[in-house]
Formats: sequence, structure tokens, C-alpha cells
Amino acid sequence: MDYNLLAQKAIEAKFKALPTYSGFHVGAALLTSDEKVYLGCNIETSSYSLTICAERTALFKAISEGERKFEAIAIASDDPGYCPPCGACRQVMLDLCGNIDVVMVNHKNEIIVKKMSELLPFAFGDEYLNK
Ligand code: THU
Repeated sequence: MDYNLLAQKAIEAKFKALPTYSGFHVGAALLTSDEKVYLGCNIETSSYSLTICAERTALFKAISEGERKFEAIAIASDDPGYCPPCGACRQVMLDLCGNIDVVMVNHKNEIIVKKMSELLPFAFGDEYLNK
């Protein structure tokens, strides 16, 4: 799928966000290897730390539906510039998706694409665990 189209889907997902406390809407669109798209948004609760980011919402929806192979994730937000994924999401995405493309879209509908390995270099991963 064209990444500009994936970015538009992230923008669409942003409007479903529930940022009750921060007021900051984020949307994500996760592309699987067989071209399916899972949308996610950030969801906040009164116990702030229980908030879930848009990226992890999309990813956990996909994993829970049986998806295991991913190509890219697009992220859109209320910030006029490009919204990078937070540190926690970087770890989760690298662990569960591998070195996918991360597509960020700004308010001019321009996109930039980074590899997960660029966003989380020298990362911890399952290779450090005794299996
Ligand atoms: N947020 C995301 O959804 N994704 C990110 O990668 C950055 C932060 C959300 C979490 C919280 O609901 C709001 O943005 C402000 O931090």
C-alpha cells in the first residue's frame, strides 16, 4: 500500500481518540504483510499512567486478531509537525513488528519514513533472554 494512503488512515484514526486529560489526539494505522490495516487511537483514563498510545492500540488489536507480520505503521497527531512514537511504543513495536517502516504525517499531509532500527538503535530484545 502507498504510504500516503496509510498516513490518511492514521489521520482518520486520530478522530476516534479519547484524550480526556491531555487533549492531544493521536492516530495510528498499522499495515500487515498481507495488506490489511488496523487503526488505533490514544485512550486516556483518570489514572493517567493507564493511558494507551495510538500505536499500541493498533498493534494489540492486530495481534489479538491473529496478525503476526507487519510492514509499516503510520502516525498522525494534533501537532502540526511529525509526531514520533514514544519510547515505550518503540520498544513494543520493535519487539512485536521487527524493523518495520514508521511513517509520520504532518498537517500539510507530507510524510517522512524512518526504520524502527533508526528510532531505537542499540535496542534490548529477545536475543538477550535465556530461552
Ligand atoms: N501518545 C500516543 O498516542 N502516541 C505517542 O507515541 C505519543 C503520545 C499519546 C499518549 C497520551 O494520550 C497523549 O499522546 C499525550 O502524551
